[in-house]
Amino acid sequence: MTDTAVTDSERLRAAASSVLLGNWAGGSTVPSRTLYPHQWSWDSAFIAIGLRHLSPRRARRELETLFSAQWLSDGRVPHIVFNDSVPADAYFPGPDFWQVGVPGEAGLTGTSGIVQPPVHALAAWEVHKTDPEGSFGLGFLRRLYPRLVQWHDYLRVHRDLGGHGLASIVHPWESGWDNSPCWDAPLARVNPADPTTYVRRDLAHSDAADRPTDLDYGRYVRLCTDYREADYDDTRIEHAFAVEDPCFNALLAVSEHALADIAEAVGADPAPHRERAGQLTSALIDRLYDPASGIFRCRDLRANSANGEDALIDELSASGLIPLVIPGLPDDIVRALLHTASGDRFGLGRVHLLPSYDLLSPAFDPARYWRGPSWFNIAWLFHRGLRQYGAEADAKQLREGLLDAAGRSGFAEYVDPHTGEGRGIRSFSWTAATTLDLIGDRD
Ligand code: SER
Repeated sequence: MTDTAVTDSERLRAAASSVLLGNWAGGSTVPSRTLYPHQWSWDSAFIAIGLRHLSPRRARRELETLFSAQWLSDGRVPHIVFNDSVPADAYFPGPDFWQVGVPGEAGLTGTSGIVQPPVHALAAWEVHKTDPEGSFGLGFLRRLYPRLVQWHDYLRVHRDLGGHGLASIVHPWESGWDNSPCWDAPLARVNPADPTTYVRRDLAHSDAADRPTDLDYGRYVRLCTDYREADYDDTRIEHAFAVEDPCFNALLAVSEHALADIAEAVGADPAPHRERAGQLTSALIDRLYDPASGIFRCRDLRANSANGEDALIDELSASGLIPLVIPGLPDDIVRALLHTASGDRFGLGRVHLLPSYDLLSPAFDPARYWRGPSWFNIAWLFHRGLRQYGAEADAKQLREGLLDAAGRSGFAEYVDPHTGEGRGIRSFSWTAATTLDLIGDRD
């Protein structure tokens, strides 16, 4: 190679960088200039993981901006932080709908009232490791550590609705997998909001066939307004939707491990975090692992509302494969997850990336958001799990597939697992961020 030769990966790196730089909004990164013009919680964590390769300073800022909007009352990290330079009608549901202020934060007009998967401690630790000197020098971990502890405490104290040590989500949006078929049964019990009381803004930016249906949207809105009317106080509401999700809890366990590393780095005691990570892992296995299917499943806490019993949800989603990111899983579970991923339901190695939902189910839809399409952050997580457990050939293939699909689709929001065709919007931040991170991961 001569000095002037530009390799494919240099071109890809340049294109991914320009997506992230173009989506930088001054203190954080919008997932998309059109569809998601504010700051989203789990997006920011994945974005920081990619951004650290371009600018560790910006990556740290990304996470600190998110945590500047953390609720002082209970430690929750809201799923959206609204930017006041964006017109009020650019996104629904916006700040007027949620009615949550951010006292004292210039430029932020408010937040939502629900949460998203807790991948932040993992992101903070990865960001720190890229530039430990800059991070230590500016007190990044020292400032963030107590905030991350409060965030995890919120989930432990206020969200263990099942009483067995796992965090529950109370809205499909909290899973991040908004319209997964896993939510069809629990959502069917929710009365949709009157469609004349709100206007969807998402359909102005994306094909309706790629987005959740109006009926689902009505139910999403109803769950939000019920929570809002209870002042988002988990003790004042019997959540109509309450589910233990494997991806959410696996990310909490991994983040608890990261919190132990962070604690050590700032001179605090890592032991409680390691212990909590172990408890979460055991609870995940006891409550959600299904040996007959070789995958973790979601548990619906309101399955039999009449007698108060919970039940595993029938649908099989790639959310149930994400626990592979947790270190120290029993060998038989690792083997089963790898087997299930490569089987006909998820087709790892034979389809593009990892489909979000069971390819063999009648509810599978290759185009519609979380009902089948392959997402880049999910592939990134699964790649991490594969490498952790030494499945190098599968990891290499998934990495190459991710880089190829990202470049060819113009950093699409998600892709059709069968054709690799881009779906949703383009120039999507976490697609660019996971690309940047994996370009550097070659061994
Ligand atoms: N992902 C949701 C949306 O589509 C909410 O965060 O707007």
